Amino acid sequence: MADDRSEPSGTGHLWMEGKTLVKLRSDQERPTHMPRGPAKRTGPGFLNPAMAPARTRSVLLLADALENDWLVKAEHDVRALDALCATGVRVRRWRTEIMAEHQHRLRITANDLDSVALEQLKEAHERHPPAIAVGHAIEDDRYERVPKGEMHNGLFIMQNDARIALMEAAYQWVDIDPFGSPVNFLDAAIQGLSRKAFLEVTATDTAALTGSSASSQQRRYGAKGIVDSYAHDDAVRVLLGLIATTAARHDRCVEPVLALFDGHHVRVSVKVRRSRDGASNVLDDMGWRVRADNGTYRFVHHPSPDEVERASGPMWIGALWNREIAGRMTEERVVAVCSPSENELKAHREAGLVWTEDDQEYAQRELRRSVRYIAEAADLMSREHTLYHMDDLPNMAGVGQAPKMEALFTALHEAGFSAARVPDIDPFFVTDASFEEVMETTRTLVAAATE
Ligand SMILES: C[S@@+](CC[C@H](N)C(=O)[O-])C[C@H]1O[C@@H](n2cnc3c(N)ncnc32)[C@H](O)[C@@H]1O
Repeated sequence: MADDRSEPSGTGHLWMEGKTLVKLRSDQERPTHMPRGPAKRTGPGFLNPAMAPARTRSVLLLADALENDWLVKAEHDVRALDALCATGVRVRRWRTEIMAEHQHRLRITANDLDSVALEQLKEAHERHPPAIAVGHAIEDDRYERVPKGEMHNGLFIMQNDARIALMEAAYQWVDIDPFGSPVNFLDAAIQGLSRKAFLEVTATDTAALTGSSASSQQRRYGAKGIVDSYAHDDAVRVLLGLIATTAARHDRCVEPVLALFDGHHVRVSVKVRRSRDGASNVLDDMGWRVRADNGTYRFVHHPSPDEVERASGPMWIGALWNREIAGRMTEERVVAVCSPSENELKAHREAGLVWTEDDQEYAQRELRRSVRYIAEAADLMSREHTLYHMDDLPNMAGVGQAPKMEALFTALHEAGFSAARVPDIDPFFVTDASFEEVMETTRTLVAAATE
């Protein structure tokens, strides 16, 4: 039914995200190629271009699961739900960009409460369908009652409260991307998952997660923060901690695959598995970050009374990423999966897309940026490491300036350690070198540079 917030059919302008054609509302400005932070919302059906990198990584992760069979056995289907899909750009990208040979295994459900956004999804999907039509029937076998919704060329689209949508069938892949905090959806998301599943959660309430809004952090996440150089990492770990403990309450355990602080939001992706024993062990990976006098920190399960003031938590203190999966998220891979071929671009232009050579170059740069540093940091982020902010090094090492990050990495590598930049808006790096080694290397490099 028409809604007075909707735009007449056929209005708006075309944009391309990944290799998928997207219709933007006519009152939404053409995105720049380097969108940062939350853009101005112009109404229902607004597409936040700053979330494009997160959607790109979602395409890569789902493609990786299908290609490497780490979620379901080869040839088995994956039931994927975007529970708060808005105009459905993510589900349309899954359908358009994941390799043709895996599409028949993907059963995709898109849900949102907003009828205008869903109408936009249907219109865009009809006008710009994926190259391969995927015709799977409504899966009444897995619903206790078939939910109200419609099948649209390989997308089952429904308009429900996400908490109901999540509980209605056992999905193996669930995406939760609300405005603000995801806490209201976590219980339903975990309970609705199949025995072995994958959950991706976005949180834009970074003030609460970092602790810069202490009362919201306490209320929503049951945590206390310290707003210093570790606040971004704390935010990621606080959200992971809540997901892990929520999962444990439902006899499930989690294994993080990717967890990032991406400017104005936190995004975590975890494998979730039903296991009473695993759930019982959740506290092994929960703890606090206690700041040390030398400027770094250590993780403890429980801070002593005199450490509490210097501690943030409780939070996830285990590994943050999966080495193999994150290690495959390279710049070459993202271009291969998500960038259009010459023929695809030609077809898009014929469909009305205005896209210059410069646009194409910027778009590729943006795709590469969405995975930059991930593969190189995958090993360290999946095991014990120490995190440093480059700007803290001079103070810590008692020198006047920081060395160049690349020079520091080369020196640490030559000394037999690992070191890698962390994908974050700030210059962070992780290493397995000791504090003394990092300080000594810093001093040596700074002395050599100032000689
Ligand atoms: C941030 S947007 C989702 C963006 C989308 N995932 C994307 O990548 O383009 C949040 C969406 O949640 C929807 N929403 C909010 N509360 C909801 C609820 N309880 N159930 C279903 N949808 C809801 C809103 O209508 C809105 O479209």
